[in-house]
Amino acid sequence: MRLTPFYISIICLIFFTNISCVQAEILNIIYTGGVAGELEPCGCSLKTDVGGLARRSGYIEDNSKDLSPYILVDAGNFLGEDTPQGRLKAETMLRSLAAMSYDVVAVLENERGFPPDFLLDLLRRFRIPYISDLEGSKKSFSMMHGKIKINLSVDSEGFKEGELNILLAGTPISDIKSIKGWDIAILSSGDIIDEPQRVNGTVIVAGYPKGERLGILRLKINDQGDILDHENRWQPLGKDIKESEVIKEILKDYDSKVAKILRNEYKPAIEETYIGVSRCAKCHQPYFDSWKVTDHARAWNALERVGKSNDPECIRCHVVGFGEDGGFHRIETTPTLADVQCEACHGKGAEHIKGNYRMVREVNESICLGCHTEENSPDFDYSDYLKKVDHKEIWEE
Ligand code: HEC
Ligand code: HEC
Ligand code: HEC
Ligand code: HEC
Repeated sequence: MRLTPFYISIICLIFFTNISCVQAEILNIIYTGGVAGELEPCGCSLKTDVGGLARRSGYIEDNSKDLSPYILVDAGNFLGEDTPQGRLKAETMLRSLAAMSYDVVAVLENERGFPPDFLLDLLRRFRIPYISDLEGSKKSFSMMHGKIKINLSVDSEGFKEGELNILLAGTPISDIKSIKGWDIAILSSGDIIDEPQRVNGTVIVAGYPKGERLGILRLKINDQGDILDHENRWQPLGKDIKESEVIKEILKDYDSKVAKILRNEYKPAIEETYIGVSRCAKCHQPYFDSWKVTDHARAWNALERVGKSNDPECIRCHVVGFGEDGGFHRIETTPTLADVQCEACHGKGAEHIKGNYRMVREVNESICLGCHTEENSPDFDYSDYLKKVDHKEIWEE
């Protein structure tokens, strides 16, 4: 008998009811991984103004009905580097993950860059369920979803029969040649996996680097935890996403603590090396005039506008010589060195005005690239950008 469309639809119907007979359930796994300490985007460029904790949380809050039922997990490498500011970020990160009610987070390579005492103290203080192979920590975490047992683990041998097994790992996708026993693996390696990969029946996804997007893996499962169907999507976290008020408060608190780091960790000028644009202007007025109309002359303003003028990680590229002897320190101590002034390109001026009149260095592309990075200035093109700030052709009397 030839199958007519009518019979095909009957067969589909039987097939379909069959599946509902074994009680397929929907479960969304909302995941992050490889966030690497990123609290919020810097806003240097529209193109890279994506991600951030406040939008992540805001999106989940506003869409919790559509997303339910879901579990929220971080596959690890959510912290950055162990510096004074890095520790403050770690605290802010964990406080935020707790506010978002993460079900479990994996403590992996980046987290182990911090002293265990410091890290464990934070995890306990904010009561965040975590799994880790740190001594004295649990490697696996179990939770129930209706009748389904979910086993989340950082131990590659830690799968359990008859449960929905989810491995959280920092392994790059290229190093995963074989994997067995796992239904799902969520990586935090920084890989971008647009379509879930299948290796030996394991569905492999990876958290979007720096939390720029939110991963949502939608599963259709039976009550043994077998996956009948899966679908992955990226939720973009651009400017249009409403930010969570709770997280915004947490970040505000971070900003005020960062200001203390700036006061305590960075030393003010000892020796005069940079002299500031108003001194250059005395002998090079036309160059000053041409600089004054560029965005470089408003770079400090941009930080003040977004409330980040006390953050060392931002200040660095919006002033002259931050962190160097005689460079910008704080607006209160070195007001004459705010903005991207002459000396950010031409080098320190103190020797120059002693009568040598040669500048310390020649301006070339690598100087621009110190600030115009891929992340902060994705549209940077040397000849295009140079045209907007160049003043070589100015005729001086
Ligand atoms: C590595 C250097 C670098 C760092 C670090 C940096 N910026 Fe920027 N920022 C830039 C550059 C370069 C631009 C101009 C980008 C362009 O237009 O191509 C810019 C532009 C901006 C602008 C847009 C200015 C305007 O007028 O629209 C804002 C706002 C800003 N940055 C804020 C920040 C904040 C906040 C931080 C810290 C979280 C930060 N920046 C850290 C280099 C940096
Ligand atoms: C006291 C006056 C004076 C001051 C202040 C001064 N300059 Fe100059 N500058 C000169 C003179 C004079 C020359 C040499 C002009 C020439 O050789 O034609 C010169 C040359 C230069 C040159 C071209 C030299 C080269 O390397 O080819 C640059 C660039 C320059 N100055 C930048 C600056 C900057 C930036 C500042 C502020 C940090 C500054 N100058 C401050 C007097 C001054
Ligand atoms: C000390 C860091 C620093 C250096 C060095 C630097 N810039 Fe910038 N640049 C910035 C920042 C910060 C901004 C954003 C200022 C703002 O808009 O508030 C910017 C903005 C610009 C803009 C305006 C971008 C736009 O959207 O139109 C141009 C053009 C530019 N820079 C070109 C250059 C070139 C060319 C060089 C090298 C010769 C250079 N910059 C070196 C930090 C730097
Ligand atoms: C964004 C980088 C940048 C900034 C900021 C900048 N310049 Fe320049 N300047 C250049 C470049 C590029 C040239 C041309 C290339 C060269 O000769 O090194 C140049 C050329 C000059 C020259 C002429 C050098 C020559 O060979 O004749 C003088 C003088 C000068 N700049 C002074 C200043 C002064 C004064 C300021 C601040 C008011 C300033 N520049 C700010 C990038 C910059």
